[in-house]
This record gives sequence, structure tokens and C-alpha cells, in this order.
Amino acid sequence: MDCCKTQTYERQFDENLASNDLRRYRRKGPDRTTRMLIKALKSEGVEGKTLLDIGAGVGAITHALLASGVRRAVIVDASGPYLGAARRVAEANGTQDQVDFVHGDFVELASSIAAADIVTLDRVICCYSDMPSLVSNSTDRARRYYGLVYPRDRWWVRLAIRILNFVQRLRRDPFLVFAHPNREVEDQILTRGFEGRYRHEGIFWQVALYRRA
Ligand SMILES: C[S@@+](CC[C@H](N)C(=O)[O-])C[C@H]1O[C@@H](n2cnc3c(N)ncnc32)[C@H](O)[C@@H]1O
Repeated sequence: MDCCKTQTYERQFDENLASNDLRRYRRKGPDRTTRMLIKALKSEGVEGKTLLDIGAGVGAITHALLASGVRRAVIVDASGPYLGAARRVAEANGTQDQVDFVHGDFVELASSIAAADIVTLDRVICCYSDMPSLVSNSTDRARRYYGLVYPRDRWWVRLAIRILNFVQRLRRDPFLVFAHPNREVEDQILTRGFEGRYRHEGIFWQVALYRRA
């Protein structure tokens, strides 16, 4: 990741946001759409599998799946403070030795990241401008399952994101959110040999789980 991009992620996903999210996670557990993805994965059977959790935040998916029998996990996150928060939860759970914590842009690190049985990106695609590189590199590392939470392709979602980005530009904040066309995201996944296993469409977010056919 170039240094400007690194600074953008570190500034956006900073200590403040990470400790607020960590407090909320400790009080309430994973958010609703994250819980849906975890449930869909558990119903496929995760016992003994490996996990690559990209943009894990506080690591809600990693912690839940380790508790359900996932053997090892790798968390890759561009934010140091979020990586620290995920590590603190793993230490509290006594699972820190089962997790590798990698700091940086997954797309840039992809060639050095091993494949895993399960790859997840929970609310990550919308943070990244180069969706094709993020999706192609991450699906290439998924041996069996590929799970996503990302924004729906609806006018109200696009409008909300446009307003958000307008405010960001007014504040001269370089962090922008992206509403990547759903058809393009799905095409990237299906052409790499995956088939749909689960889908939930909410007002803003959708949850999708694919399995290698
Ligand atoms: C909106 S947060 C979501 C965190 C968590 N998955 C959740 O749903 O609560 C996005 C996270 O993805 C990370 N991220 C975004 N693009 C990334 C990339 N290309 N490589 C690694 N991490 C990335 C950010 O640093 C941040 O921690």
C-alpha cells in the first residue's frame, strides 16, 4: 500500500473508532449482518477448517469461527488500531496462538498470503476503489468458501454513499466509500468457479456466501 493510502486507512479506522467498536462488540457481540454470515458459514460446517479474514475490524468472524472449531485464522487489516483490537479479543479468549495478524493492504500482500478454506470480507469491498483486484485476489485464496457483506446496488444506497462522499470531500478527507455494481462483483466470483449458497438482502447491506463448485 502506498504511504498516502496507508495514512488514509489509519486515519479513518483510528484508535478512537477501534476502541468504540471494541466496546460495542464486547457489550453486544457481532453486528446483525456479521451474525448472518457466521451462521451461514457454521451451517456449512467449519470444524477443522482454516480462515482468512480480510479487513476483520475487531475480528468478530474470526473469534466466532475459532469458537466453532476453525483450526487457524489469518487476519489481514490495513488499520493498525483495528488489528490491535482484534488481538486483544483473541488474547482474552486464549486463541492468540491460532491467529496470525498481518498489517497492510491485502491486495498488495496477496502473493504472500496462503490460501485458506474460508475467506471472508465483511464490509470491506465498499472501502476499496479497486474492487476487481480485491475480489480476484481474495477469491483466488479461497479453497472452499467465500463470504461477503457489502452494499446493495439500489438507488437509495448509491444516494447515501454519494452524500457521504460529498461530505468527505468537503472535509478534505481522502477516505471514500464505493458502491461497486453488484453484477460486477458477482461476475468476478462466479467466473472463478464459485456457486451461491446463501444470500440475504437488507435495506443497505447484503450477505452472500459462495462455495467452490
Ligand atoms: C468498515 S470496516 C469493517 C470491519 C469489520 N469487518 C466489520 O464489519 O465490522 C473495514 C475494515 O477493512 C479494512 N480494509 C479495507 N480495505 C482493506 C484492504 N485492502 N486490505 C486490508 N484491510 C482493508 C479497514 O482497515 C477496516 O478495518
